Formats: sequence, structure tokens, C-alpha cells
Amino acid sequence: MLNVGINGFGRIGRAIFRINELHRRFRVVAINDLDPNLDNHSYLLRYDSTYGRFEGEVVSDNRRRELSVNGQAIAFSSEPRVQDVPWKPRGVDVVIEASGVRENVLAGRGLIAAGGARKMIVTHAPSEGVDQTIIFGVNEDAYDSRRHHVIAASICDANAIAPVLRVLDQEYGVTDGFVTTLHPWLPYQNLIDGSVRSISSPGHFWNDFALGRASTMSLIPKQTTAMSAVRQVLPEVGARLEAISFRVPTAIVSSSDMTVSLARPVTAEMLNGTFARMQAEHGAIYGYQTEDLVSIDHLAIRQSVVVDGRWTRVTAAGLCKLVLWYDNEWGFSNRVVDLVKLVEHGLEKAPRNHEQSVGTRFRRSPVRLPGRVPDHIDERVSPTE
Ligand SMILES: NC(=O)c1ccc[n+]([C@@H]2O[C@H](COP(=O)([O-])OP(=O)(O)OC[C@H]3O[C@@H](n4cnc5c(N)ncnc54)[C@H](O)[C@@H]3O)[C@@H](O)[C@H]2O)c1
Repeated sequence: MLNVGINGFGRIGRAIFRINELHRRFRVVAINDLDPNLDNHSYLLRYDSTYGRFEGEVVSDNRRRELSVNGQAIAFSSEPRVQDVPWKPRGVDVVIEASGVRENVLAGRGLIAAGGARKMIVTHAPSEGVDQTIIFGVNEDAYDSRRHHVIAASICDANAIAPVLRVLDQEYGVTDGFVTTLHPWLPYQNLIDGSVRSISSPGHFWNDFALGRASTMSLIPKQTTAMSAVRQVLPEVGARLEAISFRVPTAIVSSSDMTVSLARPVTAEMLNGTFARMQAEHGAIYGYQTEDLVSIDHLAIRQSVVVDGRWTRVTAAGLCKLVLWYDNEWGFSNRVVDLVKLVEHGLEKAPRNHEQSVGTRFRRSPVRLPGRVPDHIDERVSPTE
């Protein structure tokens, strides 16, 4: 079992921690966060407005600078630079970089080269400093433990959109399209109107005045990196599509409204049949549903994406509409946990048989897999998910 350090213990850092507490896929031995208030971190882990109370004992020890969770001691530090955190003395194999700070990603290769840790996993889609981006259901077979040391898990939107586009392209050929992502507010937005300097997140600036507006009062149209993140794993398909986004006044659960032209003639029934099959065959990544659900009903789903079959439409000219749901924190954080397991699998293999292991275990099309999920993905659904 790998030892993991979490850098940045905010929404995503804590979601990863909670998911791992349910499944015990790795050991968290160190946490680093710019905010030095250990009692506050303990409190935020225990009580979460979105996911409820943490089922377990959490104690902060300020003298030892440790968080104790269910009796397990976790070293806590508050270094602004990831490379200054003493990961190595704490036996950390993998650093999960969840602070979102660009400089921490850029420091990743140096950290690994200096032996500070064996791998770094980044929880967004930076344009530099990363060796490989992995989105499950699309390109997990691209991971090569010998060459890839700083690995990006991409962003929630791309984790939902890219697996759907991959299936559509493989089955029907995607020729053109648009995606509109509907994303809940994020911590750096303002509760009331502000200037381009974020009020709630000092130091955060926008070049779009609209993003400084009251986050709970408006649908805020904005640019998104969703499609550039998709292009990192599906360059050809991604190049045929564009995306925009709305920040919506909800706390959690995102949606993507996808409109695509396909090369082959389809019906809504054919598309729905495809995604019902994807759920049956790869239920860890894809969900499919037809109930009268709203966004909050998708809270704490662990899949990357749920296709809502009620809204699938095809025009007479063949233009297709799909509506997707995803828990932008929980679903995405489940994939980060899966990525740690993928990295562990690579590290376990000796260099000589590495190629073979990667080839037989991961180098295959996820769309054509037989009716099981890859063994690095946990099939269990906990009672709280
Ligand atoms: N929230 C989402 O829906 C979501 C989904 C997918 C990916 N992400 C990405 O995950 C990353 C974190 O997002 P979040 O929503 O958890 O943000 P957040 O603001 O809730 O958490 C960030 C945490 O990092 C800490 N931090 C800031 N600077 C630091 C530094 N230099 N060193 C150590 N810690 C530092 C902050 O104190 C905070 O606790 C971002 O890159 C974001 O784009 C977020």
C-alpha cells in the first residue's frame, strides 16, 4: 500500500481523504496546507456542508503538529512551496498536489528528481509541468511509470465529457459540436458583487468582470478550459468541438449540455442504448439513468459521468443532444484515488516486465472491454456514496 501526502487540504484534498477512508486504497501520512490552523482543518474534515459528518475520530494535536484520524497519525505542515515540505522523512511515495497553485505543479519534476517523493498527481489540467494527463475511460493505457512522474488527473468537466466523446467517436464518429458546462460556484468567487480582485480569495484576479459578481444571484457565463483539457487526452476529437460555461448558483453537482454532429445516422434510442451498455460494462466510469432527477440527486456519485437518457434528442438532420451529470468534487476525487492505484501498479512492476504489464493490463480500448471494470478501480459502493 502506498504512502500518500496531500498538498492543499481544501474541497478536493478533503474529498480524496474521505473517499480513501471509505476504501483504504492507500495510507495518507502527511498533509500540507498553507493555512496553518490545524484545529480548523480538523473541524472542516469532521463537518462538511455537502457530504455531512465524517464517520470517524479526528483529533488535532498542535504540539506534535499532527492530525490523528481513527488512531492513525498524519503529519501536518504549512509550507507555501511543495518542494519545501518534508515528504521524504514521512515516507511519502505519492504527493497529491491539490492546492491548485501553478508553482507547485512546476516544482513537481524537481521534487521527484531530488527523491522527495516517487510521483506527483495533480488535480487539475495545467498546460505545463506535467508528463502525462490521464482520464479513466479514455487513456489510462497511456500511463508509463518509467517516463511519467508528474501526472495530471485533469478537471471534473473533462473527466465527464471526454469518456462520452470517446464512445460517441468510436461508435458513430464525432464530426462537430459544442458543450456548455454548468458548474457550481467555487471558493474564490464572491458572495456579493466585487471588482476583478476576488473578495473571498485574496490574491485571485479575473480578467472577466462577470466573475466578480454575486455568485449566489446569477447564472454567470464564462470561458472554460473544459475543451482544452479534453484535447490533452483526445486531441483529434477535441479539436472539432468548442465549449463555454456557466457558473450556476448551486453548491455542488455539475452538468454538461452536449450537442454533436455524428458521421453515422443515429436515433435517440441508439444513443441511449450505447450508454446503458457503457454503464453495464464500465459502471465505475459511466452511469446511465432515466428517472426524473435533478442535480442534487447526483450528489456523491462516484462515476465520472451519468448520461441522463430523458434528454437525449436527435434532429431530422442528425444533430444530437446529450445531458450529462457529475459530482464535480466526489466523482472527480474518486478518479484521483483510482489514479493512485494505477501509479502503484506501475511502481510495483520491475523495469524488465513493465512493458508487458502495461500492455496487457492497460493498453486496451475501454470501450471494447469485457463486462468488468479494470482491477485498479474499486467496484464497491459504500453506503454513504
Ligand atoms: N472544486 C472542484 O469542483 C474541483 C474539481 C476538480 C478539480 N479541482 C481542482 O482542484 C484544485 C483544488 O481545488 P479546491 O476546490 O479543493 O480548492 P480549495 O480552495 O477548496 O482548496 C485549496 C486548498 O489549498 C490550500 N493552499 C493554497 N495555496 C497553497 C499552497 N501554496 N500550498 C499548500 N496549500 C495551499 C488552501 O489553503 C486550500 O485549503 C484546483 O486546482 C481545482 O481546479 C477542483
